Amino acid sequence: MSLYLLAIDQGTTSSRAIVFSAQGLPVARAQQEFKQYFPRDGWVEHDGEEIWLTTLKVCREAIEQSGLEAAEIAAIGITNQRETTLVWDARTGAPIHPAIVWQDRRTADYCAELKAAGHEADVAARTGLLIDPYFSATKLRWILHNVPGARERAERGELRFGTVDSFLLWRLTGGQAHRTDATNASRTLLFNIHTQQWDDDLLALFDIPRSLLPEVLDCAADFGVTRPDLLGAAIPVLGMAGDQQAALIGQACFQPGMVKSTYGTGCFMIQNTGSQPVASKNRLLTTVGYRLGGEVTYAVEGSIFVAGAAVQWLRDGVKLISHARDSEALAVQTGDACGVYLVPAFTGLGAPYWDPRARGAIFGLTRDTGIKEIVTAGLQSVCYQTRDLLEAMRQDGAAAPSALRVDGGMVENNWVMQFLADILGVPVERPEVTETTALGVAYLAGLRLGLYADLAQIASHWHRQQRFIPKMAEEHREKLYAGWLDAVQRVRSGA
Ligand code: G3P
Repeated sequence: MSLYLLAIDQGTTSSRAIVFSAQGLPVARAQQEFKQYFPRDGWVEHDGEEIWLTTLKVCREAIEQSGLEAAEIAAIGITNQRETTLVWDARTGAPIHPAIVWQDRRTADYCAELKAAGHEADVAARTGLLIDPYFSATKLRWILHNVPGARERAERGELRFGTVDSFLLWRLTGGQAHRTDATNASRTLLFNIHTQQWDDDLLALFDIPRSLLPEVLDCAADFGVTRPDLLGAAIPVLGMAGDQQAALIGQACFQPGMVKSTYGTGCFMIQNTGSQPVASKNRLLTTVGYRLGGEVTYAVEGSIFVAGAAVQWLRDGVKLISHARDSEALAVQTGDACGVYLVPAFTGLGAPYWDPRARGAIFGLTRDTGIKEIVTAGLQSVCYQTRDLLEAMRQDGAAAPSALRVDGGMVENNWVMQFLADILGVPVERPEVTETTALGVAYLAGLRLGLYADLAQIASHWHRQQRFIPKMAEEHREKLYAGWLDAVQRVRSGA
């Protein structure tokens, strides 16, 4: 009997489920977008029930479309938007507040206070992260402070905290399992990446009761078993990783020095640094790449908050295009040197600037600037931001990667991929299967199942679909990039 794996990919704008064959090929997929809530400037929320119901729906649809019986799904892997914070009632499973999304900036002032009080160096040494509203701890603290009765209920052990992975696991197992994996834990600002434990000093700093926290397991482990009535069978959940780490695995970046960049809502570039955590001097993050058999593989990460979301804004916000795919033809017409720069700092700037108060802007407008130039500038902004991350990695002493493996929705745009290779001066490689996030967590579940002997066997499944070689003259590249740096400088808050 062939074995199949179900990957749940709960992302920022949609919930997806993909059934994979043991060879890592997608057999059936389903996707459902859900609502984004922006209650105030800089606030971003999701409804926990919508997260759950859309996830359940796509799982059922994907299984149905695959033509398989639920019992033929050997295991499930869960990957997810990271850092997004939920607190729920341990008895009913009902969230006590909407999920506070990773992009949410409501705790910017508190973060500034912590930094001013000199906490950042110690927090960074323990967690590999910086003090920024991006991570879960200040969001969790905000919920405990602002939802009436929450702190008392937390102290009494009546509540549970989790990132989306834990919340889905809790629901899928009917409240039997309160667990997460080391990659998701490493994004909370509460987890010590050296000891691989929740850190008591950080719990004290952020005033978080330990009883709220899930148990932290390896990425391939026995997380729990689904309630049989939900998907038609009791299926074990055997894989779990934050979506960017799952993409690192799906891209088979298993050797130190290998780098992947994923273009979803944001863009996240991650470099495998092997068994040693490497501390960045240029405000990149040190994070858990994956943990298998108790062995941690560390990574350095550059996180950009707006990538695909810039194209979404061009389409839905200012309505300059009807479909994301129209952007490619417009950029082909415009060329790369239109002189317009769009800095999409809609929710502040992430790495390497970490400026939550910066906001977006467009520079270089002239009398003949039109839609196509602004759209092109939006696409270019994604590539310039990737270059910022690569520069920070270089300044940290990393050797230039021989290639950048890319994935995510935007990588279908050939113009963007060529401009990316040009502006980086590094070849860009697009794999055959670009669903690498879901694939990565399917591989994790398969590893636990014994379907794959080791990572080398998984790596043998990776195939390149296209390689984009840099063609731009050095002088032109540097002139374009200097224009970007100047534009970024002008939107920074000085905070
Ligand atoms: O850190 C946030 C990240 O995990 C979100 O990923 O793919 O939903 O944009 P995505």
